[in-house]
Amino acid sequence: MKIIEFNELPSTNTYLKENHNNYSTNTVIRALKQTNGRGRFDRQWLSDDDLTFSILFKEQNANHHLIAPLAIVYALLSYNIRAQIKWPNDIYINDKKLAGILIECIYEQGKKSCDIVGIGINTSKKNNELNATFVNVDSSTLLSSIIRCYKKLLPVGNSFLLNLYRSYSSVLGLTIHYKGIDYQIINFTEDLKLILENADNTIIVSANEIDIKSSIVK
Ligand code: BTN
Repeated sequence: MKIIEFNELPSTNTYLKENHNNYSTNTVIRALKQTNGRGRFDRQWLSDDDLTFSILFKEQNANHHLIAPLAIVYALLSYNIRAQIKWPNDIYINDKKLAGILIECIYEQGKKSCDIVGIGINTSKKNNELNATFVNVDSSTLLSSIIRCYKKLLPVGNSFLLNLYRSYSSVLGLTIHYKGIDYQIINFTEDLKLILENADNTIIVSANEIDIKSSIVK
C-alpha cells in the first residue's frame, strides 16, 4: 500500500471522498494534523499529535468492519499491547478509548465503487477527563504495522474473521438493556449486527439502533 503524507488536511476521509478518482486502490492518505476530523454519528474527532489516516479500497468486497479493528488489535499486539474491540469497531484499552474507525462508502451509478476506511489512533497523551487513552509508540511505525496486518487479513474469509473479532470483543456475553428488556449479547452477524438473546426471544440489532455505551447493564 502506498502512503501519501500531508502536513495538514481537514479530514483524510473527506479528502478521499472528494479525490478518490485521482488515486488507485489501496492508497493510504495520512495527515500529520487534521483540522476537522470526523467520527461516527457526525461527531468531531479531535486529534493532536496523533495517527490519522484513511485507506482507499476500490471495487473490492472485503469486510472492512471486521478487518480494520482486527488490523489495529494485531498491530498493537506486536508491541505487546493488548486491546479490545468495543462493538462495532472502537478500540479500547482498560475501558478507555484508544482508537476509532469511520468507514464510508462511495456509490457511483447506483453501485458501490469505493470504501474509505478512516482510522484515528491516540499516540499522544490525553486529558484524563476524556475517558481516552493513548499508546506511546512511534506513529509511522504503528502505521506500517497496521498496514502489514491489514494486508494479511484482506484475503481471510468472513467466518474466520468473525471468530477472531469475537475473541477480541469486550462486549460478548454482556447483558444489555434494549427497548425496556434485558438481553445477553450472544454473537455478531458477519455484517456486524448484534445478536441478542433472552429466555423468550432472539433479536438482531444494528449499530444505528442502539447506543451500546448507555445500554450495558452493570
Ligand atoms: C469514531 O470513533 O467515531 C471514528 C473516528 C474516526 C477518526 C478517523 S481519523 C482519520 C479519518 N478521518 C476522519 O475525519 N475521521 C477518520
